[in-house]
Amino acid sequence: MSTFNILVVDDEPGIRSGTKRILQNFKVDYPFMDEQIDFEVDEAESAEAALEMINHKVPDIILLDNKLPGMQGVELLEIIRKNNIDTLVVMITSYASLELAVKATRDGAFDFIPKPFTPQELRSSLENITKQLFLKRMTQKLNTEGKQIRFQFLSVLSHELKAPLNAIEGYIRIIRDKQLGDKVETYQDMLDRSLERIKGMRTLIMDLLDLTRIESGKGVKEYKKVCLNEIAQTAIDTMRPYAIQKDLNLYLNSSEKCCLQADLNEMQIIINNLISNAVKYNKEGGRVDCTIKSDKGIITIIVADTGIGIPAEDHEIIFQDFVRVKSPETRNISGSGLGLSIVRQLVGLYHGTIDLKSTPGEGSIFTVTFPKNL
Ligand SMILES: Nc1ncnc2c1ncn2[C@@H]1O[C@H](COP(=O)(O)OP(=O)(O)OP(=O)(O)O)[C@@H](O)[C@H]1O
Ligand SMILES: [Mg+2]
Repeated sequence: MSTFNILVVDDEPGIRSGTKRILQNFKVDYPFMDEQIDFEVDEAESAEAALEMINHKVPDIILLDNKLPGMQGVELLEIIRKNNIDTLVVMITSYASLELAVKATRDGAFDFIPKPFTPQELRSSLENITKQLFLKRMTQKLNTEGKQIRFQFLSVLSHELKAPLNAIEGYIRIIRDKQLGDKVETYQDMLDRSLERIKGMRTLIMDLLDLTRIESGKGVKEYKKVCLNEIAQTAIDTMRPYAIQKDLNLYLNSSEKCCLQADLNEMQIIINNLISNAVKYNKEGGRVDCTIKSDKGIITIIVADTGIGIPAEDHEIIFQDFVRVKSPETRNISGSGLGLSIVRQLVGLYHGTIDLKSTPGEGSIFTVTFPKNL
């Protein structure tokens, strides 16, 4: 429940107390709003008194009579507008001065309510105003949050790229200045490390391209029948050289062809990322089992590993951009922390779900489901 604060500015005590009474138990709610809004009413008998109160606390809505004893309503309206005070002004005026009210709306009043009004008229006007104000606030909030997220994303990104660049630059300087002597072999290790950092940057950039493509909804997509078993087989074959180094066994279990109407590239990204993680975060001599099955209109991909596992408190956050679990086991494994975020977004595009079960030290099971669409 949210409360909007209303300030009634009128020299007639009857209007002020009437408004208060009418709005006392009044609540506004719309199907698209998650919450109800109710009202808290304050009163001012003159524009001067209102200004005092506004300086103290800016109300959400001001119901402003024009004909006041000292400063007039329109003058107060002008002060509010000049000072960019974030409040919504609604003029209350008698039918006789309707023209003035129209002018006031041109000068920054949001609306006007003709006086005298019935309780129902006041409520329906306010219902309308509240809806507008709610939407305006939502839009503002989304805009600033969007900017905030973008900013965070860019600062993490520049950090992620700066670290390897600095390292490579350092190595190149050492080599150029022949700091360790004239023999090329001495620098072998530095060259290998530089190449490793470059590889890391390349993956990061490729991941970013995937993300931008998903976020913008652009990129060339081609929807056709794609079979997940084949994609998984290719992913496993690609990872095998890596797996051999770690003495891992990779298995694909699927007894039937499971196909979807989908973009091949997107399905490859999903499966490659899950299998690559299962290999990367595995232990010497471990195994990876990829199971693909179809049942009652649902296609399920399960990627299970016997790796280092993921602590329960990280199960949610590893799906966010750039989040990586920091532990002694992951220290020497490179990655950008974007893989699972991309996977989750892509799964969402196909109205699918992704779920994780994991026991630290024993292994992880990632399960993706898609509703069949063929
Ligand atoms: N199968 C897994 N076993 C253990 N930890 C995992 C597994 N999959 C992901 N993680 C953890 O979740 C983090 C995020 O994974 P994600 O795939 O998003 O990024 P990444 O692997 O670090 O980088 P990349 O963008 O190259 O995939 C990883 O850094 C790792 O800590
Ligand atoms: Mg990954």
